[in-house]
Amino acid sequence: MRTPLIAGNWKMYKTVAEAVELVEALLTSAEQGYASEREVLVCPPFTALYPLAPLLADSSIALGAQNMYHADEGAFTGEISPVMLKDIGCRYVILGHSERRQIFGEDDALINRKVHAALKHGLTPVLCIGETKPQRDAGDAETVTLGQLRASLHGLSATQARGVVLAYEPVWAIGTGDTATPADAQAMHAAIRAALASDYGQDIADAVRVLYGGSVKPDNVDALMAQPDIDGALVGGASLKADQFVRIINYQ
Ligand code: PGA
Repeated sequence: MRTPLIAGNWKMYKTVAEAVELVEALLTSAEQGYASEREVLVCPPFTALYPLAPLLADSSIALGAQNMYHADEGAFTGEISPVMLKDIGCRYVILGHSERRQIFGEDDALINRKVHAALKHGLTPVLCIGETKPQRDAGDAETVTLGQLRASLHGLSATQARGVVLAYEPVWAIGTGDTATPADAQAMHAAIRAALASDYGQDIADAVRVLYGGSVKPDNVDALMAQPDIDGALVGGASLKADQFVRIINYQ
């Protein structure tokens, strides 16, 4: 049984004061309980992680980062290590987001090193994969997405693979208001799970959570979450507003 995970990716938004305000609103709703069993994660920008950690420490909301470098420490100006994220109480880290791939030139080999480093330090990677619009139009969506999956997980044992969360995020759906249909998302999630089964065995495939991301909103989350292979959501824009994110957490 996979516990659904609803994750907020705040991207480069929120000062510390704004981040605290949002988390306080989320904590208030968490105290009232959720519609059913589900896990909630917020991934604020680096500057807000440390001040938010004590607020979230004994709560039902987990803390995650949006990126990291793979080395433990060293002369890597501007980077943050897994050791540092663990040190301040992060449990998750988003890796391979399409904005990292497209704007900052991250490739599968680098993302693969980061996945290994996160697991080594006890951080759960939320590994993002997904095709662009031209790739989908060319009929290559599945080849591209599964190629990213396999390259990013390269060298993991089955036990390690069990510790990964995946997020299928079609690039054309991110920040556009243009969501994959529940049926298209389900088809890709099923293909991802089939690839996991063939690479690591059915047990692992059944255990790994595959989130959907890309313009998840209060008005489309219920239909997406009704799909058998969609185990949660990675939410960008709608995670920045407490009322919208709370509604998404409480999908029906
Ligand atoms: P969006 O972003 O919900 O604003 O489309 C999702 C993401 O980038 O993870």
